[in-house]
Amino acid sequence: MSDKIVNLFDLQKIFEKKMPKAILDYYQSGARDEITLKKNRDIFNNYELLPKLLRNVSDIDTSINILDLQLRNPIILGPIAMQQMAHQKGELASAAAAEKFGCAMTLSTSSNYAIDEVSTYNNNLFFQLYFAKDRSITEAMLKKAKKFGFKAIVFTADAPQLGTRENDERNKFKMPENLSLGNFKGTVFEKFSDHEGSSMNMHNELLFDKTLTFEIIHWIKETADLPVLVKGILRPDDAAQCLENKADGIIISNHGGRQLDTATSTLKQVEPIRKEIGTKALLIVDGGIRRGTDVLKSLALGANAIQIGRPILWGLNYDGQKGVEIVLQILINELIESMILSGSKNITEITRDLVREN
Ligand code: FNR
Ligand code: LAC
Repeated sequence: MSDKIVNLFDLQKIFEKKMPKAILDYYQSGARDEITLKKNRDIFNNYELLPKLLRNVSDIDTSINILDLQLRNPIILGPIAMQQMAHQKGELASAAAAEKFGCAMTLSTSSNYAIDEVSTYNNNLFFQLYFAKDRSITEAMLKKAKKFGFKAIVFTADAPQLGTRENDERNKFKMPENLSLGNFKGTVFEKFSDHEGSSMNMHNELLFDKTLTFEIIHWIKETADLPVLVKGILRPDDAAQCLENKADGIIISNHGGRQLDTATSTLKQVEPIRKEIGTKALLIVDGGIRRGTDVLKSLALGANAIQIGRPILWGLNYDGQKGVEIVLQILINELIESMILSGSKNITEITRDLVREN
């Protein structure tokens, strides 16, 4: 590869040139007017850094311990559906790249490779749950995740149905015929059927359970016999209710701006949610994180770790596992640089007083 890749946006540009339109639209879009999608990025400029100097920053430690797992850095690969549309090795390649950097990865329910297939590629895998109306399907997936050594369940709560991504409607987006959803092999959900709009939305309409309430967290926990993190939370009171119902952590997310358009940006909610749930509860955030300073600001405001979404696809499509490694190397280098320049030797030294709202 001859391109000079300096930052994640360089990879995004290449991705946007290379991908077929319908797949590009599915991967990159937000819901409706894409206001939230844009807000997720813009918000980082509303915070400025107040670097600390002369702190002996010769030795930087980016490691964290969450859910009793020792991770080499606070960057998690978030759940992204259907990664084989970006590269033939799909989730296998991203899981392997994450493992190389000591990063955890969350496998989507709607992945192309199945739980068992991905399980040997990374030692710190979480399984993202879309809760199927047919409980026997949900139960089987949860038990399989446990059996194959996954460390936690990430229960996505922001999708009783999928938000409308208008280009997908126009394009009648459908997963290519040669691919299937690995976790649904042998069921009617393995492939997408034709639809006048987005087949993806149609598919999920048939699959997702809209009746869920906070109490379901207990059932998920007992069935999987694993810690449960609830993803998609934007309100302090919802975060508190999750924890009251025995969730083991909260993931602040607006699904990369793909669900309710004009919903708040995620970074803005980190501090209020941290205040509500106290200093001990596990808090992760995702949405628009593309720079080391974005990671730094997220952690300073109160997150224990962050997730990336679309950049995984940019790396995958660029060069499979190696491409995702490039993504992680860039982000980790930028994080280390921002820690050195802000006087933070380790993650616990990334404190609230490092950031101020403009
Ligand atoms: C997602 N996201 C997502 N979330 C989830 O819980 N299950 C899933 O299967 C998917 N699939 C998915 C596909 C694509 C193409 C995108 C862009 C996003 C949401 C994802 O986990 C995460 O919340 C956002 O992507 C984070 O924002 P950024 O980093 O993409 O800006
Ligand atoms: C999406 C789903 C699959 O955002 O989470 O497309």
